[in-house]
Amino acid sequence: MRFVDIIEKKRWKEELTEEEIRWWILRYVAGEIPDYQVSALLMAICLNGMTARETSALTMAMMESGETIDLSRIEGIKVDKHSTGGVGDKTTLALGPMLAACGAKVAKMSGRGLGSTGGTLDKLESIRGFNCYLDKETFIRQVQDIGIAVIGQTESLVPADKKLYALRDVTGTVASIPLIASSIISKKLAAGAEVIELDVKYGDGAFMKTAKEAVELARMMIYLGEACGRKVRAMITDMNEPLGRAIGNALEVKEAVDTLRGQGPADFTELVLSSGANILAEAGLTADKTEGRRKMEAVIADGSALKKLKQMVRAQGGDADQIEHPELLPKADFVTPVFSKERGYIRRARALELGRLAMEIGAGRETKEDVIHPETGIVLGKKTGDFVKPGDILAWVHHRGPLEGEWLERLYTAFEMSAEPVPEKQLIYKTL
Ligand code: URA
Repeated sequence: MRFVDIIEKKRWKEELTEEEIRWWILRYVAGEIPDYQVSALLMAICLNGMTARETSALTMAMMESGETIDLSRIEGIKVDKHSTGGVGDKTTLALGPMLAACGAKVAKMSGRGLGSTGGTLDKLESIRGFNCYLDKETFIRQVQDIGIAVIGQTESLVPADKKLYALRDVTGTVASIPLIASSIISKKLAAGAEVIELDVKYGDGAFMKTAKEAVELARMMIYLGEACGRKVRAMITDMNEPLGRAIGNALEVKEAVDTLRGQGPADFTELVLSSGANILAEAGLTADKTEGRRKMEAVIADGSALKKLKQMVRAQGGDADQIEHPELLPKADFVTPVFSKERGYIRRARALELGRLAMEIGAGRETKEDVIHPETGIVLGKKTGDFVKPGDILAWVHHRGPLEGEWLERLYTAFEMSAEPVPEKQLIYKTL
């Protein structure tokens, strides 16, 4: 087999065989195919797509490129959730403990943030002492004992994705439904959960710019997961503005804690309750979603979800006092309010720009080598639909040093205004 023939085949929109796809992945991981050739194939896939059969073969080949986690020793239903990424997305921090408090087993492998998108591991590491790197045995034992562990993905899990994703990142080949679907589902399959809930985001701050594309991606991921015997459900959610109000690591941990106390922002609370209800019903832990939602609300009201988060933090070496008293989390030297100069309604607080702005003051990384400053970020004072008048606070900036005029101007214009009232945003577009 010659790799150039595979590239040409895709260039002419022909379907690749399972054998060709397996051969490509195996040889690439072994370092036998150069990046420039794989880049050409990735671009041909971006432009010409892949059939469901090809995408399924790619997913399996990627999953089999490394180790898979066997969770069968853990009693109970093992559940996982995955978000395609967005700004202010701290869902795992609240949803995970709530599910564990409801009796599900949450064995979660998470990632780090890059660009405007935050990562769960970075958020958790803003808690003093928190260890994201447990060995496999400890990880499994912790899930068995307390129902939840959140760790970094091991080096040996889907190495093909690690190589391919790094290449896609620098060759303009990230935004492709078959490539995203196979990347996400290969990792979910390798990580071993039986029930998988996907939060597929669309909009300004997401990979998928429209709801239609997000639905297509979700359908493909459900197909891939179900073909391997997993129960997969998806929610299509709006990422035109940040989720909740906090953007930035310690600020998001605090917002997750507030949510577990029943005092979280309405949109974030709704997302967590709806996702949790879907998962509990799908896992058979409740009769249906209505009972699932009631159970999720109950673990907030009786404090058991917050207790679960503290238990997890303690088990992973973190300072649980910072969860009980979030004011002990890292704090910025400066907190600067940004005031409205206008009167009107917020049409949109642009997610992508706000994520970038937060990254630029230390809340995220532009390159993998950048250092995160957990105390920094932005807290929105106003969101879509809110009425504002001159002097109202649009946002608070948590920062380390002086803020540049141009940066402040960009923050101001990230809030799009309308003279007319703006209809309420529909966060959950669809459930599949
Ligand atoms: N997240 C992933 O894990 N892979 C992609 O390709 C895109 C988002």
